Amino acid sequence: MSEDAQTGSLFLPAANGLRGTLRVPGDKSVSHRAVLMGAVNDGPVTVTGFLRSADTLATVAAARALGVEVQEYADRLVVRGRGWEGLSEPEDVIHVGNSGTLIRLLPGLVASRAFLCVLTGDASIRRRPMARVIEPLAEMGASVVGRQAGTLPPLAIRGGELRGITHRMAVASAQVKSCLLLAGLRAAGHTTVREPAPSRDHTERLIRYAGGRVEREGPAGGPGDVRVWPASGLKMDVLPVPGDFSSAAFFLVAALLTPDSEVIIENSGLNPSRTGLLAVLRRMGADCCVESSDTLGPEPEGRITARSSALAATDVGASEVPDLIDELPLFLLAAAKAKGTSCLRGAAELRAKESDRLRTMTANLRALGVEVTEHSDGMDVVGDPRGWRGGAIHASADHRMAMVGAIAGAASKEGVRVDDVDCISVSYPGFTGALSSLGGSWIAETRERSG
Ligand code: S3P
Repeated sequence: MSEDAQTGSLFLPAANGLRGTLRVPGDKSVSHRAVLMGAVNDGPVTVTGFLRSADTLATVAAARALGVEVQEYADRLVVRGRGWEGLSEPEDVIHVGNSGTLIRLLPGLVASRAFLCVLTGDASIRRRPMARVIEPLAEMGASVVGRQAGTLPPLAIRGGELRGITHRMAVASAQVKSCLLLAGLRAAGHTTVREPAPSRDHTERLIRYAGGRVEREGPAGGPGDVRVWPASGLKMDVLPVPGDFSSAAFFLVAALLTPDSEVIIENSGLNPSRTGLLAVLRRMGADCCVESSDTLGPEPEGRITARSSALAATDVGASEVPDLIDELPLFLLAAAKAKGTSCLRGAAELRAKESDRLRTMTANLRALGVEVTEHSDGMDVVGDPRGWRGGAIHASADHRMAMVGAIAGAASKEGVRVDDVDCISVSYPGFTGALSSLGGSWIAETRERSG
């Protein structure tokens, strides 16, 4: 296919329901961290269940650019870390593609190394706020500059001797927290990150798994201080990555919204800092059940079953937002088929994701005929249990918007056209195959890329 062509698809109604059992690919957040922390591990780490997607392969390429050997096998990855001293100056600019996690975590990893590392990414990445990591890393002693007075990528980092700081995050961000915890492993004294609400804790779990010390003080579910101590080295051997709850979530919501459906996800990650969507859906009346399984690694995992359900409206506010930050578009779609008006607030952070997800969801829900009111930090959605006929939505080069559109199509009466499905490969390359294994279908459409 020519580079000027873009693949769109018309996702058709799943007339006989969505039914079946799936294994979802590895967790994206954990896969990034497995490679980055494996890159400075004392010795090789075997990563099982690694997600092979555009975002996480950008992290593998970044590790290699820093002089770390990474071997890829069908079912595992071996990252041959040689401690922080094993990292060397990259010969060229590192391209993170579309990955916000990579461009926010990598500066923390290299902040203690006295070489130059320049990072850039695609058009969406170059619009994403970076002062939130540049400023605290500079306070710790690294030299970091960015475009537009240190607010946007490209970024250039020259590491240095680091000192521990106490940093108060204005918004709960696991990416910012993780960046500072990684830098903190190499700083003099301890480093404290104050979060207004708990954000995903994969980095903390991995640091402990690798023998490091990190503690959180503060009420569960409330603001807290996450403190890390310097580590003489990271010591992991095998690191299992659970299935990605954020990928599972598309099919769980698809099952709830499509009549005659039952979908079972065999291997979903169940880290409570990620599964906030389940509590929200249950409040809406969703038929969803979870069974934990035994896991050897740092992350809980298990099976989730979801069945077609009649949903009722609910509200989601700031304290819940971090636990379902990436699933909020799915919550808004579910709200569109729930009885009553659902309100989302405290979610301005959605404007700084792969697309402005409040704006894209407002436009896309309206394209399906749903009544919505956009607010600066959220949205009101007037639900209709009869659902939507269909329509055409724009992915805005955002993988999660494209997958929301596909799910909206399966649950529709006449189908939903999504203008770009190529972007799905950022997090879930096998998505359409998984949808078809459950009984979903689509018609591919290729057209000239606009703009
Ligand atoms: C991520 C954290 C979240 C999330 C992103 C992945 C991570 O971002 O939206 O998809 O892996 O740390 P913030 O915590 O910065 O909001």
